[in-house]
Amino acid sequence: MLITHIASERSFYLQSPGATYAIAIHPDLGIPLHRFWGGRIDPADASFFTKPVWGVAFSPNRPGTAESESPDILAQELPTFGHGDFRASALTVEAPDGSRLLEPRYTGHRITPGKPALPGLPATYVESPEEAETLELDLADERTGLRVTLFYTVFRDFDAIARSVRVHNAGTQPLQIAGIASASVDFSNRPLDLIHLSGAWARERHVQRQRLLQGERVSVGSRRGASSHQAHPFLALLEPEAGETHGEVFGLSLVYSGDFSASAEVDPFLRPRVQIGLNPDTFSWRLEPGETFHAPEAVLAHSAHGLGGLSRTYHALYRTRLARGHFRDRPRPCLLNNWEATYFGFNEEKLLALAQQGATLGIELFVLDDGWFGKRDSDDCSLGDWVVDRRKLPGGIDGIARKINALGMQFGLWFEPEMISPDSDLYRAHPDWCLHVAGRERSLGRKQLILDLSRPEVCDYVIDAIGSVLASAPIAYVKWDMNRHMTEAGSPALPAARQREVPHRYMLGLYRVLETLTARFPEILFEGCSGGGGRFDPGLLHYMPQSWTSDNSDAVSRLKIQYGTSLVYPWSALAAHVSAVPNHQHGRVTPLATRFHVALTGAFGYELDLGQLPQEELDAIRAQVAFYKEHRELLARGTFHRLRDPFTGNEAAWIVVAPGRAEALAVHVAVQVEANQLATELRLRGLDPDAAYVINGQGPAIKGNALQNAGLVVPAPKGDFASHCWYLRRVE
Ligand code: DGJ
Repeated sequence: MLITHIASERSFYLQSPGATYAIAIHPDLGIPLHRFWGGRIDPADASFFTKPVWGVAFSPNRPGTAESESPDILAQELPTFGHGDFRASALTVEAPDGSRLLEPRYTGHRITPGKPALPGLPATYVESPEEAETLELDLADERTGLRVTLFYTVFRDFDAIARSVRVHNAGTQPLQIAGIASASVDFSNRPLDLIHLSGAWARERHVQRQRLLQGERVSVGSRRGASSHQAHPFLALLEPEAGETHGEVFGLSLVYSGDFSASAEVDPFLRPRVQIGLNPDTFSWRLEPGETFHAPEAVLAHSAHGLGGLSRTYHALYRTRLARGHFRDRPRPCLLNNWEATYFGFNEEKLLALAQQGATLGIELFVLDDGWFGKRDSDDCSLGDWVVDRRKLPGGIDGIARKINALGMQFGLWFEPEMISPDSDLYRAHPDWCLHVAGRERSLGRKQLILDLSRPEVCDYVIDAIGSVLASAPIAYVKWDMNRHMTEAGSPALPAARQREVPHRYMLGLYRVLETLTARFPEILFEGCSGGGGRFDPGLLHYMPQSWTSDNSDAVSRLKIQYGTSLVYPWSALAAHVSAVPNHQHGRVTPLATRFHVALTGAFGYELDLGQLPQEELDAIRAQVAFYKEHRELLARGTFHRLRDPFTGNEAAWIVVAPGRAEALAVHVAVQVEANQLATELRLRGLDPDAAYVINGQGPAIKGNALQNAGLVVPAPKGDFASHCWYLRRVE
């Protein structure tokens, strides 16, 4: 039993292997109170962790209730504004009388095995009902007729709780949702740090850590129509002394790919209220009588073992119970992408020459990137016209795909399905199919506009256009790109009162398109991309088991990008390529071995002109490809531990340990060389301490505890960007 209901006190205890989340219904007010979230606690000890509250000045209370019952003081699950709680509201609804007052009170609950699906939205799931239990709390605001259901799924195998909110208009008049958080958590008064992942194009998901101070509100979010490079739908709260391996850490992650808001507001008593959900700056939703709205899912995770423990919970949950499909548990092919090798300047001959070189090195999948359709010789035209350019590919997609297959490689193709170029046949036929506001100029981003996926007929067009290319040739992989953010996010198909629904309706349309295409082509490996890692989020991970982590493929830049990304996402999801030097993003020159070691994720490949490389580098690549193939099962399914933090030092290191701990792969990179340095040691983690491991197939076997307590020797670097990689195999 994962959820305990104590009827006498109307409380609920959600118990995962190492954590407890507790809720109680206020005896008089009927509102759901937040009781506890932390390490596992026995419900029998509830009185021990329920702290007394007392009245405080300037915190009004509801008539007939004690001062100590002010909503301003109570820790709540669904706080609303206007009745005395002056902190951030989790649900704001405008009633026909113009007020935003709500009193959602408990009316009942259900506890069911398993986890219900979230209609139209990506979400975590279970494969059998025993894996989870779900609590549904029903609340009603009698005056407006609003019905709210709070969903909490607790997992048997993960210290995680999936939350979502459903609202329904059971009244007789339309209601306007002005703000809805998927999760709101009131922490108790304790010092806490906050981590968020901030970034920019080519600098995604950099770790920012700060102390939460009394009276402060820290808020991150996106208003770009995408989860974005700039912000990330994730927050972690940590004890100030918590680090990679120790201390209590709480995570909130939103399973959504569009605009979001995540905030922590610290009240005068040092109690943070933390919320994550749709961004009210770009979202509002009209709810007619009888209509229902579902907010996206938030996944809350708890770790008593630092950030590392938190990450491993997210990795395991997201890899196995958020990602789906044929490739979820399968190792990924080693690929060669032509983008940085040719950009738009290719023809069939050039592509085949490149592919032929890749095939001789053992590469398994050739990916044709941007430029194969319409008359696209640069980025200023043809998006939307998904018809092959026969000047470049006289035999069409089928022709090139079969020629690639004849080389012994699979064939993959790039699309940017959500976009439309003003210079395209599609735009000439349907100038109103892009997001826009009548009478306003349409801003361009990378010379393109965004298709209005809030319109079903536009989604159908995308499904048909992409689906017919996919059906026309042996395509094994799709790179799904998206290269601009939303402006003038309106739709002529909706009335004025619904214009602020467009960004979210767009996401619902996109999810329908992805659901349809991934179901129709279940054996295609889909990779997400948005100018690199601009939509690397849990929402897309539901449809695509991997995503292009960043357009910045420089090995040193990638240390930080991949470190930040690994806070939430499994190693199998981080697509990474060995690219040319000088690096195309900023000109840095790093050794080939370092580029390889850094790109050794579960979704590995190459993106450079092999024809430019000397024979010794080609020989090295042949050996790298063989190494990846030998160890990709481990990279795709292993447990990931960060060993060194590139944000705080001159080095980065990590280890991936196979399930069962029979093998592991560790990597260390020293960024800049210094004179007069000693060798250092790299203490490993995650190994079997009592088992002995052979390292790189040589020398005596060394006990796991020696490797973890004394460490591997890392020689002093002899130049900038030196790297080492160790493969450890347990002696059976
Ligand atoms: C942006 C992607 O991130 C790149 O890898 C490449 O596919 C280009 N778009 C193509 O336009």
